[in-house]
Amino acid sequence: MPAPCNLVVLISGSGGNLQALIDGIQAGTIPARISAVLCNRADAYGLQRAQAAGIASQVLDHKDFDGREAFDAALMQAIDAYEPHLVVLAGFMRILTPDFVRHYHGRLLNIHPSLLPKYKGLNTHQRALDAGDSEHGCSVHFVTEELDGGPLVVQSRIAVQTDDSATSLAQRVHAQEHVIYPLAVTWFAADRLRLSAQGAMLDGQLLPASGQLV
Ligand code: GAR
Repeated sequence: MPAPCNLVVLISGSGGNLQALIDGIQAGTIPARISAVLCNRADAYGLQRAQAAGIASQVLDHKDFDGREAFDAALMQAIDAYEPHLVVLAGFMRILTPDFVRHYHGRLLNIHPSLLPKYKGLNTHQRALDAGDSEHGCSVHFVTEELDGGPLVVQSRIAVQTDDSATSLAQRVHAQEHVIYPLAVTWFAADRLRLSAQGAMLDGQLLPASGQLV
């Protein structure tokens, strides 16, 4: 039997998406293993989730480094020590250098709490409310040098209710994130998903620009 897909997961905070991956792996639905969780904040709750699951973790605090390039170089070294097939950004709130992104070309996924290309960056839920959007959601994409850009793999849409707050919207979007990220990682781990020069491909077919809708 081939070795399961080896993941390194990068987090900065609560680690809800990390937990969804841990749960999927433990349930046997994601044919992968997480060899390490790397984090840029020593107080991130996600580190406790990693520990509870018996996964090695390491903190690299960006404030200990002299600039973005030095931090990303150290991060790459730490990641590569685990020889991952796929690097999973799961709420990793750092802008990555072009060198970093190029180094992991085709094996770097991110999840973002909006229907990209809408609302790149922060405060996505409030921005969707302020714009009066009737739909909101989340997206998984391959990471390229464009912030929150890169070919889309999968999106989930939810309806915005008239009484929604940023908090209530965030809760429903998070629940969908925990569906689509395990799905995208499962596709990659099963060799069904890859990045081509044309865009993201699933089962040999080019995905639509908005990714697969679920
Ligand atoms: C998630 O909502 C994720 O989409 C977002 O951070 C949150 C992390 O939650 N990521 C970004 O905004 C990246 N641009 P988690 O720590 O519970 O997984």
